[in-house]
Amino acid sequence: MTNSSSRRKFIEGISKTAGAMTLEPFAGAWPRTGNAIEFPNAAAPGIEQLKDLAERKGLLYGTATEHGKLSGDPAFAALVAQQCDLLVPEGELKWNTLRPTPDTFNFAPSDELYAFTQQHRMKYRGHTLVWHEALPKWFAGYATQSNAESLLTTHISKVVGHYAGKMQSWDVINEALLPEDRRSDGLRNSPWLALLGPGYIETALRAAAQADPSAMLVWNETWIEEDTSLVESKRQSFLQHLGGLKKRNVPIHGIGIQSHLMGDQNNIGGANFQRFLHEISEMNLKILITEMDIRDFKLPADSRERDRIVSEKYAQYLSSVLQHKSVIAVLTWGLSDRYTWIAKTNPRSDGAAVRPLPFDENLSPKPAFYAIAKAFEETQRR
Ligand code: XIL
Repeated sequence: MTNSSSRRKFIEGISKTAGAMTLEPFAGAWPRTGNAIEFPNAAAPGIEQLKDLAERKGLLYGTATEHGKLSGDPAFAALVAQQCDLLVPEGELKWNTLRPTPDTFNFAPSDELYAFTQQHRMKYRGHTLVWHEALPKWFAGYATQSNAESLLTTHISKVVGHYAGKMQSWDVINEALLPEDRRSDGLRNSPWLALLGPGYIETALRAAAQADPSAMLVWNETWIEEDTSLVESKRQSFLQHLGGLKKRNVPIHGIGIQSHLMGDQNNIGGANFQRFLHEISEMNLKILITEMDIRDFKLPADSRERDRIVSEKYAQYLSSVLQHKSVIAVLTWGLSDRYTWIAKTNPRSDGAAVRPLPFDENLSPKPAFYAIAKAFEETQRR
């Protein structure tokens, strides 16, 4: 902050909006033109930033985005650079982008994102090496039980090796659990499981550690935050797998909790989930909130009311997970409602634009932004 008065105004903004949950016009630190924030210089000093609030507590704040959005939308790119110190590619490191053919690698789109992080002193995180989705078209006709292990380990050595020493963390495993598939080990019936059996998880982690011994290796999971018996069984399977990996000295350093939440859901982040986070911490694993957004397709039409409910969810969820000092990073899956996958996956039936992220489509901060800021302000240092 440049001076104490702008800082005081900022904090007042946070308290007014995230505390009482009413949307006050923000008269704080940002220079504004109409509804939009002006970005004379992305690195302008004196502008309060989520990354700064996070950093003061030993946390990282970041977003997922795509390279085309940064190169094609300078105002959005400036907002990303201003607010985030961690960036994750939304698609550029998935197999279907990286592997146009079985013999080739296309690093250019991801390298562009990496260059952006270097330009703006941000960290880069890798997503994702082993997932049942986003496999290239050639995969099904090419992968067999006899070549799958080398296909997987070659991919990992090459991709993790390409960014060795440059990644804050890697989502090595993504969404490997699915209790609905009714296996006793809780694993999802994924192509990788069919090809390699449950050992694919260990194989992938070991290959990643070999390619970059310094990387933080993460198992990222979805739909793990809810307080239902099905999701509790998923958490228990997760703990068992993690315990087994640790026992066998398999390199694993953290878990990702995606946190794609629903604004109308009231059974998130309860006692069982808290206990789970505690047990993860006791295993000396770090926790990253990797893909947070809050779906509003079932919320009222009035956008102010929707923003209020969404911001309350951000506030409740983050203040509770941040009580665990093992939580070291928070990422939202997008930064502004201008670009969000929710527009495609969960559009509103009334045709109104969805509003799941901290900034609106004009790049102005929403109550959700103040809720995140307040959660960072109020958490203890780690
Ligand atoms: C999503 C992207 O946001 C979409 O653009 C893409 O079409 C599909 O994948 N969990 C994950 C992310 O781990 O990789 C997904 O990203 C969202 C759900």
